[in-house]
Amino acid sequence: MFDLFLFAIFPYIAVTIAIVGLIWRYVTNQFSYSSISSQFLESRQLFWGSVPWHYGITVVLIGHLIGILFPSSVMAFNSVPLRLYILEGTALALGILLLIGLVILIFRRSGNPRVRTMTTPMDVALLFVLLVQVATGIGTAIFYRWGTAWYVHTATPWFASLATLSPKVDYITSLSLLTQIHAVNAFVIIGLMPFTRLVHLMSIPIAYLWRPYIQVVWNRRQAITERAFCE
Ligand code: HEM
Repeated sequence: MFDLFLFAIFPYIAVTIAIVGLIWRYVTNQFSYSSISSQFLESRQLFWGSVPWHYGITVVLIGHLIGILFPSSVMAFNSVPLRLYILEGTALALGILLLIGLVILIFRRSGNPRVRTMTTPMDVALLFVLLVQVATGIGTAIFYRWGTAWYVHTATPWFASLATLSPKVDYITSLSLLTQIHAVNAFVIIGLMPFTRLVHLMSIPIAYLWRPYIQVVWNRRQAITERAFCE
């Protein structure tokens, strides 16, 4: 019964909350569609956290998507053991890279007083669920190996059953508890999207990855410098 709720009902609730919430936020406060950058408060740690996190999570999520959209191609690719090893090794390396980025971002939010002042309870909640997602993903990759191979026989048909409105929970309940937490938590993240900085995903801000630093000029310091110059 609980499984039915988690894997057959909750995904729809989360997606509905996400769609309605995103539309509501767009209509009521369009300018809040942003990650509310804190780069002007601290930029060094942000660079070392944000870059590995964003590159890593983008590639890993594209990998998840390829498994859903092109399962037979993934099966064909993985049919040669060497290719399976390379895929698994690359996915794990990316997972560890983005985990390092996320941990740096968490330390930055908790350790830097200026950034901490601007941190809301929703930021903390988001970082927590992201950490759970990444930890359970890496845990799955390490303890239940060849995930890229069995994903297409379990997660992919589960997603397909959800998409065709005939959810089949057995595909997911047959997996380890760690992977089940990973799957449910993914929908928690989706449901949280409209209420957190994750909303910036909707504006696809990929220019962040290559745009130059923001240069902030403090008027106060400029005034002091000017005064010192004139005196
Ligand atoms: C918000 C959505 C999701 C995020 C951010 C996410 C993130 C991750 C990360 C960071 C990893 C570790 C890196 C890797 O080995 O690929 C991973 C692995 C994995 N994820 Fe997810 N995931 C999400 C949704 C899901 C869902 C819904 C499933 C379905 C059960 C799933 C199944 C897996 C599997 C099987 C692995 C292990 C792959 C392997 O052995 O390399 N993920 N995920």
